Amino acid sequence: MNVNLAHYLAAGKEQVDQQLDRYLPAADRAPERLHQAMRYAMLGGGGKRIRPILALATAEALGYPGSRVMPLACALECIHTYSLIHDDLPAMDDDDLRRGRPSCHRAFDEATAILAGDALLTLAFEILSEPRTDFEPAAQLVALRQLANAAGVAGMVGGQMLDLLAENRSIGLPELQNIHIHKTGAMIRVACLGAATLCNATPEQTRALKRYGEAIGLAFQIMDDLLDEIGDSAVMGKATGSDRRQAKSTYPQLMGVTQAQEKAQDLITDALQMMDCFSDQADPLRLIARFIISRAC
Ligand code: IPE
Ligand code: IPE
Ligand code: MG
Ligand code: MG
Ligand code: MG
Repeated sequence: MNVNLAHYLAAGKEQVDQQLDRYLPAADRAPERLHQAMRYAMLGGGGKRIRPILALATAEALGYPGSRVMPLACALECIHTYSLIHDDLPAMDDDDLRRGRPSCHRAFDEATAILAGDALLTLAFEILSEPRTDFEPAAQLVALRQLANAAGVAGMVGGQMLDLLAENRSIGLPELQNIHIHKTGAMIRVACLGAATLCNATPEQTRALKRYGEAIGLAFQIMDDLLDEIGDSAVMGKATGSDRRQAKSTYPQLMGVTQAQEKAQDLITDALQMMDCFSDQADPLRLIARFIISRAC
């Protein structure tokens, strides 16, 4: 399969953005301020849409059109964007720049940003629970549960708590890995796992996709840590040096830049190995894995 990564990512982002625009409440509907904040955080900025695109690529790897899992893709992005809005709040990472623009609480206010995040979280489950005739209801329910699990205490929210508790404290690699697996890995893993559930993957395919998601999920946050240290804020659309300022534990801080890069590379090698049982329909997943560690933003 001849896939061009840049085109694939751009096309995926466009499809996802079109659907998100449809799902989001209109900016002129009351309460306008809340709806405007939700739309501001979700649309028009520089979000890569990597989680939704992973869901679409997983469906394709399993022989379905990506459109089959579009509700899952949009639900993932709603939860991810809510996590960014809250992550930037003064009580958390206190960041003023997100996706190339003032973060939500700076463009609006803290209370509105909190509520916009809350609203996006609940919207995600409204979208994914929409009745569908082409899914087994039981499969849809499993996917909903997988998403809730990845977003909540056993996943992203739990990881964010651990991340905050590790500020100003020296921790070891196992603890740091545990934070990263939860705060970032879980939502990336469930992009693959949820799509596998909705696309009738065999147990063997599900296992491989889950492990692929785990490996690239951890690599993604290692790369995020590296970019915070050595990236270009203008390209990334968010501040660099934020982790240092907040005295966070990160991979480059714990093992140095070069070793962190090697660790991320090893994880991508593992992820690619997981794709061995798939045909060239999984080429987009293969390209996305490589993109995770070559990205500049
Ligand atoms: C940033 O995620 C926060 C993490 C979980 C590492 P992304 O790098 O996917 O951010 P966007 O969605 O492209 O803005
Ligand atoms: C964020 O990790 C993880 C989330 C669940 C949002 P970071 O705090 O490192 O993400 P950025 O660097 O602010 O995007
Ligand atoms: Mg954070
Ligand atoms: Mg942050
Ligand atoms: Mg970061």
